Amino acid sequence: MMRLGIAADHGGFELKRVLLDKLETAGYKIKDFGAHQLDGGDDYPDLVVPMALAVAKGEINRGIAICGSGVGACVVANKVRGIRAALITDHFSAHQGVEDDDMNVMCLGGRITGSALAWDLVQAFLGARFQGSERYVRRLRKVAEVDKKTE
Ligand code: RB5
Repeated sequence: MMRLGIAADHGGFELKRVLLDKLETAGYKIKDFGAHQLDGGDDYPDLVVPMALAVAKGEINRGIAICGSGVGACVVANKVRGIRAALITDHFSAHQGVEDDDMNVMCLGGRITGSALAWDLVQAFLGARFQGSERYVRRLRKVAEVDKKTE
């Protein structure tokens, strides 16, 4: 069973609540990295980075990071070595990002994407598997080299 994490700042707080409920109802094991209460003054790095580190360490397999636009969550998640995060707003990218690019953190904008579409995107993300063809592996090796060269 895939182990998941979810994190959100105030801009993603309500969408996180909805998705967490749906994921738990669907039987997923999911760790909530907060925010645990709505705080308009919280900062997305404080919520997203602990979850991204858990993905990078293999403690969880995939993460969902939410802020108001999804942009800040995506920017900071990608600062963690080994994270391949993308801001997702469409169904195709939600699964193709995993199939081709091994996306391990999906970012959403709580003020951009409605809960019904967000749930569809989450299901597409979780249902997808990295396809592992040679050209995808080759590209990811080059991505990983950037991590190493810029540390
Ligand atoms: C809200 O503070 C907003 O700036 C934040 O949630 C996020 O959208 C940043 O990218």
